[in-house]
Amino acid sequence: MRIPVLDGRRVVLGVTGSIACYKALDLASKLTQAGALVDVAMTGGAARFVTPLAFRSITHRPVVLDLFDVQSEFSVEHVALAEGADIMLVAPATANTIAKMALGLADSPVTTTFLATKAPTLIAPAMDGYMYDNPAVQENLKRLEGRGVRIVGPDAGYLASGKRGRGRMAETPELMGHARAILGRNGDLAGRSIVVSAGGSQEPIDPARVITNRSSGRMGHALAEAARDRGARTVLVTAAEGLPNPPAVKVARARTALEMAREVHASAAGADALIMAAAVSDYRPQRPSDQKLKKDAGSMTLELTRNPDILSDVQGSIIKVGFAAESQDLVENARKKMTDKGLDLIVANDITRAGSGFGAGSNKALILSGNGQVDDLPLMSKEALAHHILDRVRDLMAAGNSPP
Ligand code: CTP
Repeated sequence: MRIPVLDGRRVVLGVTGSIACYKALDLASKLTQAGALVDVAMTGGAARFVTPLAFRSITHRPVVLDLFDVQSEFSVEHVALAEGADIMLVAPATANTIAKMALGLADSPVTTTFLATKAPTLIAPAMDGYMYDNPAVQENLKRLEGRGVRIVGPDAGYLASGKRGRGRMAETPELMGHARAILGRNGDLAGRSIVVSAGGSQEPIDPARVITNRSSGRMGHALAEAARDRGARTVLVTAAEGLPNPPAVKVARARTALEMAREVHASAAGADALIMAAAVSDYRPQRPSDQKLKKDAGSMTLELTRNPDILSDVQGSIIKVGFAAESQDLVENARKKMTDKGLDLIVANDITRAGSGFGAGSNKALILSGNGQVDDLPLMSKEALAHHILDRVRDLMAAGNSPP
């Protein structure tokens, strides 16, 4: 699936000699699928782990292995690659290459390209845990970080040596998320701060049981990722336990409506926009039991009490966007919610429609605004819908004021 912030962008992927090279194939593949033009530069060590042909087959572009290859289509390899790049990723980055990058050595296609590029650079260290802990490696990483290089990972876990430790190359989604954040940092939401909520709240009945709903959290997570990709400082308050934290987004985990209210109010103070995609429970059990309830009676009654309405309670000049998941009278119900909660926009969808609403990867929505405008959008992915919503939020922010 194409990803707007990566589509058509030039990515130089520097690959160095670690067993984690196999993961770089997946990274190259996902970047290419997202629409990026991926030029791979490899060290000799990397080419012993994975063949240049494997990268070439994935990226459909030449792979640079040799600095002095007269047959190559890149004029002077490192200069041509370095000049055209929108971002450089070095993944995996060995301790050896990290040291050379920190010192400014240029003895491989990867280190020369790094030295010659003005593009922002992200590196994903991969090495044995003891090597990673070595003060020399730590100092080199700090030095690079101090020069603006983003270091992602390494993760802790099983290492090729058979031991456990910190040294595993970060996984593809983590690297992609950071790359997207870097590429989008001057996007049309740069300088703005946006709070997004996601997922279905969970209200405890007892230690084993909750009242919840069918919200998957995908819409809210897609919104947070899209806002980040467009340069916004993004906070995601999420109840979606099945979804990972989006990289380069500030994430607050909240389960109950009350936890969510606390997190949203704390983050919304001073923010430019609040988008409440979470399905917040309107009620919670009045007295949740400390112990698991036993089925000793033929029936039982749960007493419920109202939760605060988070969206209504957020006040101030912040732009407020709500969601209305309806099974009937879509437009009337959505309009009423917009007025009652003082919203600038409301995204309405009919949850009884196939391919739409809870849990689906797509959504068929209407965006209603305060001035009566109704955008009846076709069925589209939640990622695409997220961008439509953010377009409208951006326009509202531009009409209101300019970024600080
Ligand atoms: N919302 C909120 N706090 C609540 C309940 C809902 O902020 N306690 C937000 C949701 O995140 C969503 C919008 O309000 O953006 C939905 O409105 P609401 O009418 O409260 O949703 P439902 O509970 O689905 O409405 P109803 O059951 O009345 O149809």
